[in-house]
Amino acid sequence: MQEIDAFIERTRDERLADFLELLSIPSIGTLKEHDADTQRAAEFIAERLTGIGFDNVEISPTGGHPIVYADWLHAEGAPTVLVYAHYDVQPVDPLDLWKRPPFEPVVENGRVYARGAADDKSHVHLHLWAARAWLETHGRLPVNLRIVFEGEEESGSDHFDPWIEANRGRLSANLAMISDTGFFEGNKPAITVGLRGLVYMQIDVSGSQLDLHSGSFGGNVQNPANALATIIARLKNDDGSVAVPGFYDQVLALTPREREEFARMPLDLEAFKRDHGLYELFGDPDFTLLERRGARPTLDVNGIWGGFQGDGSKTIIPAHAHAKISSRLVPNMDPERTFQLIRDFVLSVAPAGVKVKISKLNDGMWSRTPIEHPAVEAAADSLEEVFGERPYYLYEGGSVPAGATFANILGLPVLLLGFTQPDDQAHAPNESLRLDNYEGGLRTLVRYWQRLSTETF
Ligand code: BES
Ligand code: MN
Ligand code: MN
Repeated sequence: MQEIDAFIERTRDERLADFLELLSIPSIGTLKEHDADTQRAAEFIAERLTGIGFDNVEISPTGGHPIVYADWLHAEGAPTVLVYAHYDVQPVDPLDLWKRPPFEPVVENGRVYARGAADDKSHVHLHLWAARAWLETHGRLPVNLRIVFEGEEESGSDHFDPWIEANRGRLSANLAMISDTGFFEGNKPAITVGLRGLVYMQIDVSGSQLDLHSGSFGGNVQNPANALATIIARLKNDDGSVAVPGFYDQVLALTPREREEFARMPLDLEAFKRDHGLYELFGDPDFTLLERRGARPTLDVNGIWGGFQGDGSKTIIPAHAHAKISSRLVPNMDPERTFQLIRDFVLSVAPAGVKVKISKLNDGMWSRTPIEHPAVEAAADSLEEVFGERPYYLYEGGSVPAGATFANILGLPVLLLGFTQPDDQAHAPNESLRLDNYEGGLRTLVRYWQRLSTETF
């Protein structure tokens, strides 16, 4: 490990410059106008993989943004790990809240600021350099690696499952490692062992072909914006629970043991509010904040629009109104069934006088990691060695559809190992990553490959 640590020391500047170069590529996967940039990010990564010494480097077409695949399979007798991260990033709006342009990365106060600095180019880059550290100092890796870097994670992973299905013949592995999560509040080392799923929907309400004069027609037609508000108001109870009949039927109840574990996590609610700029906390009173985040489903409006939005006033009855709605799912909820329950309910409470349409935009399954798996234990040991603390086991509220894909399609145990922290402002303006976490992450990964090489599973 000494040689590797020395390599890590002496390449610090070069690594950082290389990271900033990756961060300067605006690979916003959800925006058509950035398709060429997203492709360029894939090419950057493929080039690096080739340079490092990976075999079968490929920018593999998916029908959407490509998957960057590569492997290194010369560690005979050692486990094979399928390594996942994503190189696409979220849009940057509202741009005026960024202190620096999102794709002109800067280092300040021990942090790298840029869109994707945390989510998830940090982990793409860490994996490149962890492999390089081994190959340059030892000419080998202690384990076999298959790299699968996705370009559509932030837009719903639509082409991921089909690609995995089509390529399953060459994806044999003993473990999937997803690096797209991070530490607990206060930058405490953690291993995520639960991710929520997601079903994303749109409601479209229409009442007429064109906007109407609200004087001439007001009182004689249903207003689509009012009707949409009525529908949305019916979705939730005043205490924050979801009012859709049957919504909670498949939800796996927390065991007393799990509730104890949740209660043991050191969460300071005042610090939580302060760190994330929240004015008030609100949620189903039957559960704690961490339970609600990790083990309970949600139903939220993500966006709502319709009618006049400009300055001043305009007297119309809007022709149509719309909302984007999403539901976070937990074990054992089925995305399709949940969508159908919500759809049936929305249509049943829709006021008369308007057309209401609800469509599913995408979905992703929840996943859970088997905590007692030796690969999880080895990850905990590696984190403890580097960060000096035994990691917490975390149930996250976010979603990474690939987790369920690896578990359900490939039948692999899934380890979520990542190094970002909750105040990195992922998806928000001024996203950043602590350099300490970056360096510690690299030290953890190189050690983890070593530890894993002697595990049998
Ligand atoms: N890295 C996140 C998932 C995540 C969020 C992990 C919070 C841990 C904590 C991922 O890139 C993400 O944002 N996923 C989307 C998925 C969606 C687009 C299907 C999400 O959770 O909204
Ligand atoms: Mn991510
Ligand atoms: Mn994300």
